[in-house]
Parts: sequence; structure tokens; C-alpha cells
Amino acid sequence: MGAVETTTRIAAQLAPQRSTQYSNLARVLAQPELLASPLGAGLQDVSLRGIAGQDYLLFSLAGPLTAGTVGLLANMAMIGGVFEMFDSIGDVAGPLLRPVEAVRSTLISPDMAATRRYKGKTNEAFTHFLCNIAKFASDFHSSDWSTLAVVDPLCGGGTTLFTALSLGADVAGLDLDRTDIESTATFITQYCRENRIALSAKEERLRKLGARRWLFQIGREDRRRCMLAHGNAGQAGELLAGFGRAHLIVTDLPYGIQHRGPLRGLLADCLPGWTDLLISGGAIAFSWDSTRLERQEMMALVADAADLEVVDRPPYDRLAHRVDRVIKRRDVLVARRR
Ligand SMILES: C[S@@+](CC[C@H](N)C(=O)[O-])C[C@H]1O[C@@H](n2cnc3c(N)ncnc32)[C@H](O)[C@@H]1O
Repeated sequence: MGAVETTTRIAAQLAPQRSTQYSNLARVLAQPELLASPLGAGLQDVSLRGIAGQDYLLFSLAGPLTAGTVGLLANMAMIGGVFEMFDSIGDVAGPLLRPVEAVRSTLISPDMAATRRYKGKTNEAFTHFLCNIAKFASDFHSSDWSTLAVVDPLCGGGTTLFTALSLGADVAGLDLDRTDIESTATFITQYCRENRIALSAKEERLRKLGARRWLFQIGREDRRRCMLAHGNAGQAGELLAGFGRAHLIVTDLPYGIQHRGPLRGLLADCLPGWTDLLISGGAIAFSWDSTRLERQEMMALVADAADLEVVDRPPYDRLAHRVDRVIKRRDVLVARRR
């Protein structure tokens, strides 16, 4: 007689979100995130279900729950808590949920991205999702975050940088808005001081580009690099010279552009340079208002502009969601450098 195959039934509680708007986001994106992850191929019976008023993603894993699987689940953006689920135990009818302890020990807390509030900020859970989905599509899907470098060439107030730092990556970002960059540099300094995190900062002027930039070393033995520059995303390569190439580029494209022309122009100007920044096998994930520029048009634009291969197989083709009354449909495009 062959060995009996065990399966483990998991109930993953969706990440708690402050508002209905963001709960909807988790409901749309939790399943694609999990399916795109290295766990995706081995999962069975994936479904969303409400238990006692909370949303859970239910699924079965082949075999027992391993530390590696727990670690992967703990890093999902759209999952808040993980439970092993039993239909019943002895005479006690279920569903019964046993909490699974998932410890994320990082130098930088996810609070760094969460505490900063300002107009135009990209939601930090969504930003975490973009980081994960870029990683999952890349050749580095199973690498430890501490071996990866992430760039956001439209970094605003730094949500991508702080999120990727908290995951463990080295980061670099730039933005055209001088106030955003300067206040982000000040925030990094204050945050590290308040949280007693070792920090060294070097500020420099790139004379040829007329730009200011900062290089931060965060932490002591366990150390992360964070480069921040003021300038145009079309000059990302020059502005971030010395940082090295990126495994992942993660960004949220500007909204409030009424016509598709400027967005097309921005991408046509920037994509070749962003692609040069990527290591071969690396990936870019970006979000945009897809009521302004339809997905098909965006896919064609990306494929034409640079040596990038758009990843459009399921679940990467089902990431569109509503944000609010202004951004009625935001989509996510993922592409790999050949
Ligand atoms: C949607 S916001 C990004 C917000 C950011 N993720 C955050 O959470 O703060 C888009 C950003 O693109 C920047 N931007 C627009 N055009 C740019 C360009 N040509 N070069 C650099 N940055 C640009 C804007 O200043 C804005 O900060």
C-alpha cells in the first residue's frame, strides 16, 4: 500500500485594511498574489470565504506546513494572518482555526511606510503587493529579499523605498518634485533617529545634471543602502549611477493626467533607460489609471519601447481593480527584462 498523501488546509485572513475601499483591494488581489507566488503551482481549492464576518482565502497545500511556506505566507501583502483550518476536531464542529506563528524579523519595520501620511501617497499594502508581484515574475522569485535591489524612478514620498527596505532590499528612488525628495530625505533621518536605527548619510550634488542626491546606509551589521535623487525619471541611469543595477523596478505612474499623450510620452522616454537599469531576468511592475490608457495599448507600448517581455499569463492579467471615485480602474503591468 502506498503512503497516504496528507494535505494541509489553510485559512489566510486578508490583510486588515482601514477602509472598505482597501478591503475591496485585498479581496481582488489576495488570490492573484498567492497564485503568482512560488507556492501558487502547488495549491488546490483556492477560494475566498467569510468566516464570522472576516474575509479569508482558503486553500490546500500538499503535505505538512513547512517553515519555508510559513515564511512565504508571512511576506504576502494581502494576507494578514495564517491559520491551519480543521472542519472538526473530535466532537467539536468547525471550522476551527489554529494560528500559525509567522515571525518577520527585519531591520526596518513596515511602520516606516505606514506612518508617513501625505496627499498623493500610494497605499503601502498595494505597494508591497507591487514589490511581490515583480519579484514573483522575475528570475529572483525565490531569492531572499536581502540579496535584491529595488528602484522606484517616480518615488514621490518614498512608499516603495520604505516598503522594500522593510522587506530587506537595498533601494533607490528619484522624483521630479524637489519638495517630495527633500522631505523624504528628512523623514529617513528623523525616522532612524526616533527608532534608534544606525544611519549614515552623504549628500552630494551631481553638477552635470544640476541634481542633489543622498546616499543613506541604514543599520550597522545588518545594513541596507538607500539612494535618493532629485531629477527626471528619463535620466534614472545617470541620477542613480553608482547604485548598481536593479533586480526589480516598482512604481506607481502619475495620475491626474487627463489625456493619454503625456503618459505615453513619459513611458516612451523612460522605459529604455529603466530597462537598462534592470539585471537580465529582472522585472518591472507598475500601476496606472487604465481608464486613461487601456491595458492592450499599454502592453503594446511597453513591448515596443524596450527589450521587455510583458507577463500577461494568469494571474498577471487579472490585477485591475477600483481605487476610489476618482480612479475607477487601476491596473498593474508586469514585464521581464529578457
Ligand atoms: C503616483 S505618484 C507616486 C507616489 C509614490 N508612490 C508615493 O507613495 O509617494 C507619481 C510621481 O511621479 C512623479 N513624476 C511625474 N513625472 C515625473 C518625471 N518625469 N520624472 C520624475 N518623477 C516624475 C510625480 O512627482 C509623483 O511624485
